[in-house]
Amino acid sequence: MEYFTTTSGASRRAVDCVIVGVYERGKLGTGAEDIDKASKGELSRLVKSGDVPTQVGEARVLTGVSGVKADRVVVAGLGKVSKFDGVAFRKAVAASVQAIARTKTKQLLNCLTLEDTSGTDIYYKARFAAQMTGDVLYRFTQMKSGRKPPASPLKKVGIAIAKRGDARRAMLGATHGDAIDLGVTLAKDLGNLPPNVCTPTHLARTAQKLARTAPKLTTRVLSEAEMKKLGMGSLLSVTAGAAEPAKLIVMQYKGADKEAPVVLVGKGVTFDTGGISLKPGPAMDEMKYDMCGAAAVIGAMAVTAALKLPINLTVVVPAVENIPGSNATLPGDIVKSMSGKTIEILNTDAEGRLILCDAMTYARRFKPAIMIDVATLTGACVIALGKHHCGLMSYDDELADSILAAGLSSGDKSWRLPLGPEYEQQLKSNFADFANIGGRDGGTITADCFLGKFTEGISWAHLDIAGVAWIGGAKKGATGRPVPLLTEVLLERAGVLP
Ligand code: BES
Ligand code: ZN
Ligand code: MN
Repeated sequence: MEYFTTTSGASRRAVDCVIVGVYERGKLGTGAEDIDKASKGELSRLVKSGDVPTQVGEARVLTGVSGVKADRVVVAGLGKVSKFDGVAFRKAVAASVQAIARTKTKQLLNCLTLEDTSGTDIYYKARFAAQMTGDVLYRFTQMKSGRKPPASPLKKVGIAIAKRGDARRAMLGATHGDAIDLGVTLAKDLGNLPPNVCTPTHLARTAQKLARTAPKLTTRVLSEAEMKKLGMGSLLSVTAGAAEPAKLIVMQYKGADKEAPVVLVGKGVTFDTGGISLKPGPAMDEMKYDMCGAAAVIGAMAVTAALKLPINLTVVVPAVENIPGSNATLPGDIVKSMSGKTIEILNTDAEGRLILCDAMTYARRFKPAIMIDVATLTGACVIALGKHHCGLMSYDDELADSILAAGLSSGDKSWRLPLGPEYEQQLKSNFADFANIGGRDGGTITADCFLGKFTEGISWAHLDIAGVAWIGGAKKGATGRPVPLLTEVLLERAGVLP
């Protein structure tokens, strides 16, 4: 998408579409006021007659508004003036873009960025405008045969600014938002692909392809034989039943001199049947999304490379299929992880931690400044937090606080859960160093405790994205989360936020 900024009034720009907003009780937003003046009160008459929405999440397309150069005027509801914040802003943009998604709009001017959103400055407004536009226009049609619905013709998006002095920050926001959209789109595509296409090999190829387009990025893919040599008995136990070969994907981006890298580790279970501890049938198809952690960290890498951020970033993805077979791992099996620690596998469905622990032990060699792992790890996290917040766990308060803050500013929120020795007790095993499950109570926390046994001495945080990575029901699909959150952390570290 191409972006530009402009100080010209909503009525005066010759574009296919201009987006303005109206608050509750009919108070016109800045762009709407301009449209109203130019059309000699046409808009206020429509407001009075109740023909334009005022609630957040609603939008209506008007055509042929007199005195206005644009072909269409989208009026978005903005809700209460006092409650118009970053969240409402994103919803209003989403509703507006949704309203014109099926039209032939090629260029649009978004004037919602002129509204006052408490605490959200022009950089974030421009960024959210770009992100939400991409998010709403996203379609996954790769697997459809025959004539596919045409992709949106939208090519050019203008961000309205109040004064020229805002131009630089608005443009930076739009550039960052556009790059985040690229990463989110990649993550959504990988998540939405069926498990017979998005195999560990496919994830590896995607990572290699990305490296070919970015000069500072290299990708290495380790085979099962190489993982065996490294002693990754835990990771390999998960793939034991699968015909699909497992891969360990290592992407290294060098955007800075000798600086310790940020390491992101993403769970890449391309399908989770549960293994011998087989999952029940209903909605099992959704376990194709069990690689959304991998998709998110690869997406964050794509954003970093696109923006050429001045940081070092390493992404590690253990990619496997968890499926029963005659060689499959059995409940009761004891395996030796790369760290040397032994694990009693009491449930083969708790496989995420088994691949992540070896991937994180491997990642130690990069001497990370910080390490964040991202995983659709536990159903318990969906029960605890629902589908809005990522579960965040860390022994490092400073790191946890920075991720919580990044969640608030990016709108991709997380919520911290407690940790501690009480929970660790639950992983006791009579036969090995510890077990891979700790019972139903605090299932999200004990999963993190398990990972914590492999990250001693590292500034590390764990994000459980089981609830946020996809939505079910009629609109089933991957969300691309938490690419915006991870990017926010990286932008912050790169020192490029205004
Ligand atoms: N991939 C699942 C977690 C999951 C479940 C994510 C539902 C999203 C929705 C994970 O591998 C798993 O199966 N976890 C088990 C752990 C249990 C056996 C301790 C779970 O949550 O039931
Ligand atoms: Zn899983
Ligand atoms: Mn599982």
